[in-house]
Amino acid sequence: MGIIDDLDALQVEALAALSAAESLDALDAVRVAYLGKKGSLTAVLRGLGALSPEERPAVGKASNEVRQALETALEARRAELSSAALEARVAAEAVDVTLPARVRPLGHRHLIQQIAAQIIDVFIGLGYRIAEGPEVELDYYNFTALNHPPEHPARAATDTFYVRDLSAGEAGSGAAPTGESDVLLRTHTSPVQVRVMERQKPPIYILCPGTVYRRDIADPSHLPQFTQIEGLVVDESITFADLKGTLDHFVREIFGPDRRARFRPHFFPFTEPSAEVDVSCGICHGAGCRFCKGTGWLEILGCGMVDPDVYAYVGIDPERYTGFAFGMGVERIAALKYNIPDLRMLLEGDMRFLRQF
Ligand code: PHE
Repeated sequence: MGIIDDLDALQVEALAALSAAESLDALDAVRVAYLGKKGSLTAVLRGLGALSPEERPAVGKASNEVRQALETALEARRAELSSAALEARVAAEAVDVTLPARVRPLGHRHLIQQIAAQIIDVFIGLGYRIAEGPEVELDYYNFTALNHPPEHPARAATDTFYVRDLSAGEAGSGAAPTGESDVLLRTHTSPVQVRVMERQKPPIYILCPGTVYRRDIADPSHLPQFTQIEGLVVDESITFADLKGTLDHFVREIFGPDRRARFRPHFFPFTEPSAEVDVSCGICHGAGCRFCKGTGWLEILGCGMVDPDVYAYVGIDPERYTGFAFGMGVERIAALKYNIPDLRMLLEGDMRFLRQF
């Protein structure tokens, strides 16, 4: 029977086309060509009506078998192709976990903050506590109560930034300020110590970190704004030996156990006696080199026994209490510790200072 043979041929041809389809799209095209509304098999089925009633059942059965065979083959090929497509996609999108990661640079505390924290840690370890005060300060706390006479050169408008000058009348008139109500940017953190002594009775063990301002032109060893850490101890029977022992300990903690401290007589209005402290040069170890300008020593701080005149301003009994104070510039300590030749380098945003030390 011709039509059955045609159906067989159609099945062979369609099965071959299905297995030859290499993609889901190609497979769908084959499906449409044979099983779609205008497909070849559909055309055969449509022709059934024209057959004689005797022929119809056999042809109908045969064409249903062909349809089923094609649909089964179609599904099988579809499953094959879609799992191949999935595998290809997985392979293409795979993450190679063995590739090295992209390193993102991490920020960290600025060197000045790191050194300040180290210094603070040393004194916290000795039982000091932190005291803070205003950066815009009264002349009284910055100078007067620290025993600076009215004519002291540090009070000159060429040395100190004045914010408001009541005694000289108009701001910016250029006249030398003299009145106690003058407002200025503090030139050291010593005024914080006066404020604490005013409020608190001894024993006092405090450390005063903070920003200070001086009318200096920035150069390798000066900054018009820098970070200071000062300390104050007031208690019964405090002697210069306590000051010396404390600062010896501090020098070794910050610079290393092999470094030594040296005390040189000096003058400060608010301490008597006063000294400047040097640390032995870390490069030549005292022999003298370019870094220490041939002296073997590097100056790091000022200190002394609190002058009884200061106690008079804050109402502490100088017969009962004695004490010492010291003050240092953090930028200078950082520069000495890391052999930085110019303080300005600390502030220029050079990435080498921002990476971890
Ligand atoms: N206040 C001084 C300065 O800024 C430092 C200092 C503090 C000196 C305490 C002696 C005692 O230079």
